[in-house]
Amino acid sequence: MAKGEFIADMQQIKARAREHMEQGAVTSTYNGNSQAAVKVLNEALATELVCVLRYKRHHYMAKGMNSEPVAEEFLLHSREEMEHAETIAKRIVQLGGSPDFNPSTLTGRSHADYVECDTLEEMVKENLVAERIAIDTYREMVKYFGNEDPTSRRMIEGILEVEEEHAEDMSTLLGNFDGKSCNGSKN
Ligand SMILES: [Fe+2]
Ligand SMILES: [Fe+2]
Repeated sequence: MAKGEFIADMQQIKARAREHMEQGAVTSTYNGNSQAAVKVLNEALATELVCVLRYKRHHYMAKGMNSEPVAEEFLLHSREEMEHAETIAKRIVQLGGSPDFNPSTLTGRSHADYVECDTLEEMVKENLVAERIAIDTYREMVKYFGNEDPTSRRMIEGILEVEEEHAEDMSTLLGNFDGKSCNGSKN
């Protein structure tokens, strides 16, 4: 590209950026449907928030022999789910949407369940189920964003990687028990 053409392009890009400044990061070259993207991301946000709450509950309720390292793992996961929620909320705002933190509709909007559980084994099992649900839906989201919205896709890919680690952690812990889940699971 000649220097003149490049400058003309830059001028056009700058003019367009000014024109749509009120739309923030959503420029006219955004290929995705940002309203639909916000909807999809709000479901991911709800899922992450439910995961934060479930892991927190399990952290405080974990009891019995050798429960301490498992309780610590639940706490670490709850913190990482919170980081995911914050990253997603930030992206929703960038896309011109509003992150939905409404607690009264949270579980209905989440892909994963909030299951309390009585025993350590049930807790681990339920967390594994929730992680597997998150992994499946994030894989779908990666395909959905594709090349239309590479920023959202990369964000979800990064989160997906952590969810896969979480699932592996839960699966390893589950190896210490014989396997029985709580009632009410989506499994
Ligand atoms: Fe997460
Ligand atoms: Fe997770």
